[in-house]
Order: sequence, then structure tokens, then C-alpha cells
Amino acid sequence: MKPFKHLPAFLAVASAAVLCLTWAQQASNLVLPQDKGKDTLDVSAYPPDVQKAYKLFAEKCAKCHTLARPLNTSMTQEEWSRYVKRMMHKPNSGISDKQGKDIYEFLVYDQKNRKDKNPASFFKALSDEELQQLQRAQGK
Ligand code: HEC
Repeated sequence: MKPFKHLPAFLAVASAAVLCLTWAQQASNLVLPQDKGKDTLDVSAYPPDVQKAYKLFAEKCAKCHTLARPLNTSMTQEEWSRYVKRMMHKPNSGISDKQGKDIYEFLVYDQKNRKDKNPASFFKALSDEELQQLQRAQGK
């Protein structure tokens, strides 16, 4: 009886599984320039309903990337509307229509009252081409 007879096959399967997991993780581990900034926001001066929406935003929008990404990205109102839907449609986003709407309201308020007042401090959203370039540059 050879106890290690199946070891090579087992190792092959195990390393294939690890490779797949790493690959799946890396797809969402892309680093964007805006990920490096502040990842929290003091909303104590915002209206109560916007503060409430911020809590939901902080919970839902930091699941796949840091909260710094949306906090440091500047978009127009239409772009935010499109972008919240794009994020909602990603697999396992866990964001309902109503939650998406509340988060959108927060993002628009924050855009007008903070980002638009100091545009040079924020990143413009990357285009799909720029995202693909980053993916290639980071080997993902
Ligand atoms: C299921 C995972 C997931 C969730 C949840 C998620 N995102 Fe994303 N987000 C991504 C991925 C992946 C990218 C990279 C670009 C792409 O694939 O669309 C991204 C990119 C972004 C960008 C960068 C846009 C650019 O082009 O510069 C912003 C802003 C953003 N997300 C905001 C949000 C907001 C706001 C929420 C909450 C409503 C959210 N994300 C929730 C996965 C997610």
C-alpha cells in the first residue's frame, strides 16, 4: 500500500483551485488612482436624510473596493445615475433599487456640495479604455 499514491493528482487539483481563486480575486483587486485618497467622510453638516444615505453608501459601496474610490471620484449627475446602476448590476452587489436610489441621492448631494466646489482635488471617472489599460498595466 502506497499512502502517497494520489498525492501528485491531489496537488495538481489543489494548485489549479488556488490559481482560479487568485485570478477571480485579482479581477476585483485592480487599483485605481482614486483608491489612494481619503476613505471616510465627515457628514455631520449634511441634512439628516443625506447622513442616513451616507451610512448605506458606506456599507454597500465598500464591498468590492475601498470607499475612497467613489469618495474621490467626480461625476456629473447623469454619470452617477449610470454608475450606481452599473455597480448594482455587478454579481453579488447586494444593492436593491430603493437602496441604489438613496445612495444616488447621497452621491449627487455630495457632488454639488463638496466635489464641485473644489474640482481639482478629485479624479474624473476613468473611461472603459483607461480601465482596460490599467488592467493590462497591473497584469489583471
Ligand atoms: C460587486 C462589486 C462592486 C460593488 C458592490 C460596487 N462596486 Fe464600484 N467598482 C467595482 C469594479 C469591479 C470597478 C472597476 C470598474 C468596472 O469594472 O466597472 C468599480 C469601479 C467604481 C468606480 C470607478 C469609476 C471610474 O471609472 O473611475 C466608482 C466611482 C465606483 N465603482 C463607485 C461605486 C459605488 C458608488 C458603489 C455603491 C453603489 C459601488 N461602486 C459598489 C465593483 C463594485
